[in-house]
Amino acid sequence: MTSVPRWSRRRFLEGGSAAAAIAAVWGCAPDDRTQAGGSGSSPPDSRTSPSAPLTGPRRQLAAPGPMLPPVPAILLTVNGRPGDPDEISVLWTFVVNGDPPQIGVSAGFEHQARALLELHDEFVLNLPAASMVEAFDTIDMNSGTVADKFELSGLTRGEATVVDAPTVAESPIHCECRTTDSLEVPPARKLFIAEVVATTVIEGAVDDDDRLIVPAVDFFGMTAGSGEHYTMGRRVGNIGMTAGRSDIRY
Ligand SMILES: Cc1cc2nc3c(=O)[nH]c(=O)nc-3n(C[C@H](O)[C@H](O)[C@H](O)COP(=O)(O)O)c2cc1C
Repeated sequence: MTSVPRWSRRRFLEGGSAAAAIAAVWGCAPDDRTQAGGSGSSPPDSRTSPSAPLTGPRRQLAAPGPMLPPVPAILLTVNGRPGDPDEISVLWTFVVNGDPPQIGVSAGFEHQARALLELHDEFVLNLPAASMVEAFDTIDMNSGTVADKFELSGLTRGEATVVDAPTVAESPIHCECRTTDSLEVPPARKLFIAEVVATTVIEGAVDDDDRLIVPAVDFFGMTAGSGEHYTMGRRVGNIGMTAGRSDIRY
């Protein structure tokens, strides 16, 4: 059973020192961590040496595939049908836009999530921490048609603040979503586009300006090209660093 975090969840209400938060996580001042931000192009994090670029010959694989770096792992939660358990699913997801905040998820025709996302307009993207990876795999390996995946995984059902959908209480970040559009993708998928109408975080996940403190949360991603889960590694730069910008986020 995964324990519920002792920190309080907040909707970007309380403050705290960004520098103190980063220092607590990294054991150093923010500026020691990276030179990125505001000073043009930034050198890589000096605490770890970058891996050398691969230079060998290129070859075409026997089969094409979406061989992309790890895509953020998410657990989508949505109400079940009346009388049925609520659903938790592992789905591929992507950011559509930062302002307005829009995301997309892909649901297979054969999976519960597809029918439930058609039935209910609201759902939650729960960001799991690496400590939840076994519960995450249990959710993937089991179907909501035969068992309550909250019970199976030991995760705690919570309530969203704005939308009518369950949450995974242990997840450090919840993106509460309302579906705005959908698109069938033959032969077997349906894309759902949704607006993020509320984002809640556990204390310590963001700084004073509500910017995500990436190393404070032990995120992981799922890799289509290898079927593995990876945590995020080191910071190598920031959006706009080649233009001397450090103010951009989505
Ligand atoms: C890395 C990874 C990505 C997945 N992406 C999707 C997805 O985008 N859409 C989907 O319907 N299922 C996806 N799945 C599988 C389902 O979420 C999962 O098997 C689920 O438990 C099915 O439950 P159900 O039978 O109750 O629908 C993915 C699984 C993994 C491991």
